[in-house]
Amino acid sequence: MQDKLQLLAQKQAEALLGGGTKRIDDQHKKGKLTARERIHFFLDAGSFEEIGSLVMHRSADFGMEKQRIAGDGVVTGYGTVNSRLVYVYAQDFTVFGGSLSETHAEKICKVMDLAMENGAPVIGLNDSGGARIQEGVKSLGGYADIFYRNVMASGVIPQLSAIMGPCAGGAVYSPAMTDFSIMVEQTSYMFVTGPNVVKTVTNEEITAEELGGAMTHATKSGVTHLTAANDIDCLEKLRHLLSYLPQNCEERPEHLPYALGEEFREELAALVPANSNQPYDMREVVQGIVDEDSFFEIHEYYADNIIVGFARLGGRSIGIVGNQPLSLAGVLDVESSRKAARFVRFCDCFNIPLLVLVDVPGFLPGTDQEWNGIIVNGAKLLYAFSEATVPRITVITRKAYGGAYDVMNSKHIGADLNFAWPTAEIAVMGAKGASEIIFRKEILKAADPEQMLAEKEAEYKEKFANPYLAAERGFIDEVIDPRLTRRKLLKGFAMLENKVRKLPRKKHGNIPL
Ligand code: HXC
Repeated sequence: MQDKLQLLAQKQAEALLGGGTKRIDDQHKKGKLTARERIHFFLDAGSFEEIGSLVMHRSADFGMEKQRIAGDGVVTGYGTVNSRLVYVYAQDFTVFGGSLSETHAEKICKVMDLAMENGAPVIGLNDSGGARIQEGVKSLGGYADIFYRNVMASGVIPQLSAIMGPCAGGAVYSPAMTDFSIMVEQTSYMFVTGPNVVKTVTNEEITAEELGGAMTHATKSGVTHLTAANDIDCLEKLRHLLSYLPQNCEERPEHLPYALGEEFREELAALVPANSNQPYDMREVVQGIVDEDSFFEIHEYYADNIIVGFARLGGRSIGIVGNQPLSLAGVLDVESSRKAARFVRFCDCFNIPLLVLVDVPGFLPGTDQEWNGIIVNGAKLLYAFSEATVPRITVITRKAYGGAYDVMNSKHIGADLNFAWPTAEIAVMGAKGASEIIFRKEILKAADPEQMLAEKEAEYKEKFANPYLAAERGFIDEVIDPRLTRRKLLKGFAMLENKVRKLPRKKHGNIPL
């Protein structure tokens, strides 16, 4: 027995060493942790159980039969985050550059299957040179096996991706199909084709960082939802994000205990400026409503005319979508519609109630928007809200104009409770534009057209730019004192706790992609 235990210890030690101390040092020199260190910092202390540490590749081409390293470039297993079960895989760049072989893919698929069958999130820590070049199509098949599982798991269990090193070629499509991605600044990149191919094909000269670094994808493409200053920051953000999510689509997110108090928030009274063209920060409205320091923003640097993120309200996890008057006056455009639509669908998949804060002057006009498909992209948000069956509450703080009024979780598309502050303006369009159209003849005939326009504008504003006509029709349930917003929402979401709404039977809908 003694010699058998010795052999086991030797094999385990080999697996722990991965690609060897020199390569581990190289990884550290680049400012990166190793796969095992990442798992150590990600999971609760002592909770990791490894699966497949002794797996080796089966390739015999290009001298690979002489280079067989236990684990084959990926550490896989399960553990807990904040005492809740998660499955994890971390690619080990010290072994063949973390490249994906047939067996490496099989290990990832195994934990994905376990995650699905046991209803717990799966988290991928990616750091890989892509397909194992020596294995050819076997490696490509391995990727496709993972992609297929990503799609099958979508909407069943939360899937998170951290990009903590290279991620190129078709390898980018697994993170793209997971629910949220986070990229580490300066040490990670994602692109379908790298700078060399770009130079050959388009003659553009660009660095890997500019082409597909963390800030590029956080600001320009929106491919990453979050960025992190370093590996530790990345892993802490993943842990934090998980705290808002349920384990799977059959569960609700954790609800921390909370006793209703006075819940009066004086600061909300003065946030909306008297001049309706003056901007204010919707994040301050969010802070004034949610539990202290609980707002976790997603996609902060992308399409900042809309804000989305998770928060807690009386200990309950909620998703927030809010127009942001600080950027482009909070208008809806192609990017912001897409950003919000994807977030709404995530919350709906995982039983996270939605709070929608509205201050929207409409959709952004112009050729750029029309030619880039504002029609079909705006429709995505309309579709996403209409389809969502989770509790949905809207608060209109100021403008709710035109089609954007309908789209932003209006009563008509299935919202449960719609509140408006007394500062709300709900109409087909702004007073000036409306007056120029409907009073055109009178204005043209007037001795002083400017004076006449001003009078008509004031008349229109008086009649329509308020929440009361909508409240008379029941499109707004209550016009509320802003200071009581938190209280109204706490009670509203508690009332909706057991909401059941079923969609018509269908195979699946056809969201305008
Ligand atoms: C096999 C690989 C590898 C790969 C790296 N290595 N990538 N081995 N297959 N894809 C090995 C290297 O040979 C090296 O081994 C070790 O990993 C570390 O790599 P370095 O090049 O020394 O590291 P670094 O300088 O940091 O550069 C990292 C890198 C570079 C930028 C990722 O290795 C690289 O360009 N690799 C190839 C990337 C690529 O073209 N992949 C295929 C993409 S296409 P030694 O023994 O020398 O230390 C693809 C298709 C997927 O992935 C399609 C799915 C549908």
